[in-house]
Amino acid sequence: MEIDQIFKNNKRWISGQLELDENYFENLSKKQDPEFLYIGCSDSRVPAESLMGVSAGEVFVHRNIANQVPNTDLNVMSVINYAVEHLKVNHIIVCGHYYCGGVKAAMQASDLGILNPWLRNIRDVYRMHNLELDKISAEEEKYKRLVELNVQEQCVNVLKVEVVQRACINRGLQVHAWVFDIHTGSLIDLKIDFKKILEEIMEIYSLK
Ligand code: CO
Repeated sequence: MEIDQIFKNNKRWISGQLELDENYFENLSKKQDPEFLYIGCSDSRVPAESLMGVSAGEVFVHRNIANQVPNTDLNVMSVINYAVEHLKVNHIIVCGHYYCGGVKAAMQASDLGILNPWLRNIRDVYRMHNLELDKISAEEEKYKRLVELNVQEQCVNVLKVEVVQRACINRGLQVHAWVFDIHTGSLIDLKIDFKKILEEIMEIYSLK
């Protein structure tokens, strides 16, 4: 696609939106009140709003390679803080996806330069679950399972954040682990029991 086409698309989008609602942009500029915080992968094939079927203003989005939630990443930590404390979202979703290049790279032995420390987080997930993963002989199944376990562990990382702990306990904030299956377009709920996880990790990670 030529870059100029983007601006033509933008003009078409503006007229389309105004046809549906002449006050669309005026209302949009007033405030945002999203119900969801979505933390997903930067992969171009996984567009948050499209796969959730939501419009502008409905979901606060953070994306990075392989949907990571590292404790030392000021970016994702600021997003979580802002979404929970100021926007008062009621749901935090970590959404991974099958055929994730970041997860694939972490499964292979190679030096990827600046990506090494980032992908090491996924290698840590592998190490935590190596007993289960090493039992899976089919490489593709192992890859898919690591995608799921990575999402689960990033949800645990979300639950280690103090504002999340407080909001879960005081106002019913929920944390969800999802996987998007690029092959079928399906969104899969891994149905993690975040309350149980929170209870289990509180002994060590309680900050409230
Ligand atoms: Co990915």
